[in-house]
Amino acid sequence: MTELDIGMPGLKDRIAAELAAVRERSLVYTDADDEVLTRQHSPLMSPLVWDLAHVGNYEELWVLREAGGIEPLRPEIDHLYDAFRYPRADRPTLPLLAPAEARRYISGVRGRVLDVLDRLDPADPDPLRAGGFVFGLVLQHEHQHDETMLATLQLSRRPGLVRDGELPPGAPATDPEVHIPAGIFSMGTDTVAWAYDNERPAHRRHLPGYWIDRHPVTCGAYLRFVEDGGYRDPRWWLPQGWEWVERSGVDAPLFWTRDGDTWWRLRFGREEPVPPDEPVQHVSWYEADAYARWAGKRLPTEAEWEKACGGREYPWGDAGPGDLGDRANLGHRAARPAPVGAYPAGASPYGVEQLVGDVWEWTDSWFQPYPGFRSFPYKEYSEVFFGETYRVLRGGSWATHPSAVRTTFRNWDLPIRRQIFAGFRCARSED
Ligand SMILES: [Fe+2]
Repeated sequence: MTELDIGMPGLKDRIAAELAAVRERSLVYTDADDEVLTRQHSPLMSPLVWDLAHVGNYEELWVLREAGGIEPLRPEIDHLYDAFRYPRADRPTLPLLAPAEARRYISGVRGRVLDVLDRLDPADPDPLRAGGFVFGLVLQHEHQHDETMLATLQLSRRPGLVRDGELPPGAPATDPEVHIPAGIFSMGTDTVAWAYDNERPAHRRHLPGYWIDRHPVTCGAYLRFVEDGGYRDPRWWLPQGWEWVERSGVDAPLFWTRDGDTWWRLRFGREEPVPPDEPVQHVSWYEADAYARWAGKRLPTEAEWEKACGGREYPWGDAGPGDLGDRANLGHRAARPAPVGAYPAGASPYGVEQLVGDVWEWTDSWFQPYPGFRSFPYKEYSEVFFGETYRVLRGGSWATHPSAVRTTFRNWDLPIRRQIFAGFRCARSED
């Protein structure tokens, strides 16, 4: 949503509709037996019931208390749902709200949130309330937790918990690389109303010319790296990456197994042959980086990734995510990435495809602040993660809601993480 929308009639209606939609999504993902919701499926993840109550607690904290000036509803549970208080691995041992109680709590919060929305003056100069920023904050936060819940459901290896759907067919790429000419471009944003602090401020960057893959790297291409002994050859790996390979014993993307000559993958509890034309997912940053070196290329920097989008809110234009149409695989249309070439209408002005949707794309960049960065509304959103620990991912996955991604959106994770819906594309400098 751009600045032009602020204060326009319909803002409150749009927020109310989006709040209802994201809650419906959260309730679908947690429409399971208490046993599924309360157990820990992986030490990397919280129990699903934690995510559910946490989104309500976050909404209470930011919309009701900070923006609405309302007294805490359940102050005694705050510490349980503070993401910085207890590591994920310890959360199952906490006295968490049971599923039915968690549903009651978040619905009680939501009722009051709608009252605060009703009183919202979009022209209010308070930065938390201006343009409904705080509602954008909680909407995106809940969608991000919904994506996390999908990753948890995938890790549970149980069938029947996640909806699948149809996707458009792919098409072979005639020209697998796109040339981006040297020059200055504007990175980040000052105008996207619900952008996070780490996307701000917009600033000018000069990049030399480079080549970038038209599509994300496919499973078929990645398989050639696997079969060429890529996981047994330290030449392709950074020292820390090689150490990780040796320590963890990985020899293929997460959820892949070999049976004779056939490779299978486990997807939401079902085994299926690895689809050669689909972007590879569930690879770590180290694997992406090693593949790129094996292919004679490198990962793009996040500036190269963003420039390839062509300077608009979405690669296909500034039009909002409401008219997604056939432009991208976002918002859990199906529970997998679409084959490459499936979205020519979503190409950037340079002709780079599937930048947004399908798989989060690892970039070569550390998660660092832009020049002039100011923390808002709290340091723990971005600032505490800056440094040389986390690598930036861009573009969102099939599981990302269109309201929770744009060409300036920055995600970050540890270089060993593979449970997220992440893949990559390659780049190379001009000769
Ligand atoms: Fe959170």
